[in-house]
Amino acid sequence: MELSKKQIFLFDAFGTLFKASEVGEELQAIAGNHTKSLIQTWRRKQLEYTWLRNQMNHYAPFGQVTREALDFSMRQHGMLDERIPELLLPIYDAPSLLDGALDLLGALKKENKTVCILSNGTRAMLDNGIAKTGISQLVDRVFSVDDIGIYKPDPAVYQMAIHAFDIPVSDFVFFSSNQWDVSGASIYGLDCVWVNQYGETKEGLPFGEVMEVKSLTAALSLR
Ligand code: LAC
Repeated sequence: MELSKKQIFLFDAFGTLFKASEVGEELQAIAGNHTKSLIQTWRRKQLEYTWLRNQMNHYAPFGQVTREALDFSMRQHGMLDERIPELLLPIYDAPSLLDGALDLLGALKKENKTVCILSNGTRAMLDNGIAKTGISQLVDRVFSVDDIGIYKPDPAVYQMAIHAFDIPVSDFVFFSSNQWDVSGASIYGLDCVWVNQYGETKEGLPFGEVMEVKSLTAALSLR
């Protein structure tokens, strides 16, 4: 896969460009040594609920699913303190950028590449995130699953972005740190870059054409 030849650069949002977990001191003070587990369960359940909702044909927007997953995680940890959602939900409503995101998007824009976000987030969530992180000049288009009412890794999600352009699929590349997302996209036929910025073990899932990099910064030197 030659990245320099690609025209359309699609990026997953949460966990790839935007931080999907952040442990502040305030949360640590409330949740103590349950903090990590509380956040990990929240994220896992959030994703699991999107997959189950796809199976059940019962879509609800990502904000709702995110809140329902957090409520579960809080119940499971026996922590019902309302300050927890106040501290954690802004991760999705007002996110921050992961290391290397700004430099990579900036470099791609300089090369006149088309940069898009393809995410489970609602349009409002993604627009807020883009405005808050100051990357609006670097993103050409935003594709939200909310427009089609189905979550990744349903093929319809990847298709939505590809069908928006009159360009062969081989000119696209999709970046994600979420392996299940890379699996779905690459099986669909998109060349993918797996940004393994959390040092994960490779999943036993089907994969198509995938290049692994350790960080968004490392992806910069590949072009
Ligand atoms: C997204 C999820 C996968 O942004 O975090 O699509």
